[in-house]
Amino acid sequence: MHSKLPDVGTTIFTHMSALATRHKALNLSQGFPDFDAPLPLREALARRVMEGDNQYAPMAGVMLLREQIAIQLARHHGVQCNPDSEITVVPGATAGIFCAIMASVHPGDEVIVFDPSYDSYEPSINLAGGRAVHIPLTPDQFAIDWERVVSALSPRTRMIIINSPHNPCGSTLSSTDLAELARLAEQHDLLVLSDEVYEHLVYDGAKHLSVLQSSILRARSFVTFSFGKTFSVTGWKTGYCVAPPALTTLLRQVHQFVSFVAVTPVQLALADFMDSHPDYPSTLADFYQHKRDLFCGALKGSLFTLTPCAGTYFQLLDYRAVSEQADTVLCEQWTTEHGLASIPISVFYQQPPLQHYLRFCFAKRDEVLLQAAEILRNMTYE
Ligand SMILES: Cc1ncc(COP(=O)(O)O)c(C=O)c1O
Repeated sequence: MHSKLPDVGTTIFTHMSALATRHKALNLSQGFPDFDAPLPLREALARRVMEGDNQYAPMAGVMLLREQIAIQLARHHGVQCNPDSEITVVPGATAGIFCAIMASVHPGDEVIVFDPSYDSYEPSINLAGGRAVHIPLTPDQFAIDWERVVSALSPRTRMIIINSPHNPCGSTLSSTDLAELARLAEQHDLLVLSDEVYEHLVYDGAKHLSVLQSSILRARSFVTFSFGKTFSVTGWKTGYCVAPPALTTLLRQVHQFVSFVAVTPVQLALADFMDSHPDYPSTLADFYQHKRDLFCGALKGSLFTLTPCAGTYFQLLDYRAVSEQADTVLCEQWTTEHGLASIPISVFYQQPPLQHYLRFCFAKRDEVLLQAAEILRNMTYE
């Protein structure tokens, strides 16, 4: 039997986390916190389970949660969304991305993705019968080169996928980027899939720019969000997708046969917590900026060079002065020999350019970040 995804192996996240566990290494590879979610949120889940909220939710998500999502979108991003016709709760942003692509990409369609890109996009495009057209972000700045986008457009281009704040680079899109995207999307009648799972993790006083804030983009976008990232519950695998009513109808057609629903008590617990702690997301930028600065500050005196990330909980380190090895080799070697796991970024490219970056997740306890920095500080040229 032929694989439908012949080029796909185990994801790098699974691979590196397993290697880190096997070698008892500090795990700054996969993107999840090593601290627990807020206590009232965990208590709310226990309560909802014990109170018997354990059967199927409505297909689009429990209304209490969708209403809270609408409140939060208005509060944090200044946009009004209809919980009934524009918001769908999904079992994780990955599922939302899959459903959005399956619902709108037809065989032969082309979808523009920017490399390095999150690794679920291309397999989803392939399963829909489409073709990913890869455009590398600019080296070092990790910005979109819009001239390259214009030259990559063809009559078959159906969709552009963007991700801001960006995993793995930690860069963010500017208002000029979104204006250019809106211009091209309108001119060429394109759909947009905007992956905004790190919406609240934007630093140095900057604000997240959502495609939902542009009426042109909003009319043609699926936007995916993740409670896992915002509330430190990546294992709860719950997120949501916002899209205009016509696109939401298409999305739900697929969602109802992929998972049908997301987990009921989790949805209710999230709704309870969002109701009782509406400002919790606003605390995240300071919380994670402290961690970013602690980690970057503790690397002073090391051979690594870095630009503090603008968003996400990922920091890239340029290791050129430490080693000339390929990033894939180096991050395995450091896990087994130095006890520190990271993620190579070349695996997120169709054609990896010559680069020397490793990605470190700083959603970790301060003492773990300091230990990791000490390991890195002690590295000399190999
Ligand atoms: C850019 C990006 N999109 C989507 C996801 C998936 O989110 P979820 O765990 O809610 O499926 C992740 C998780 O790491 C991510 O980094």
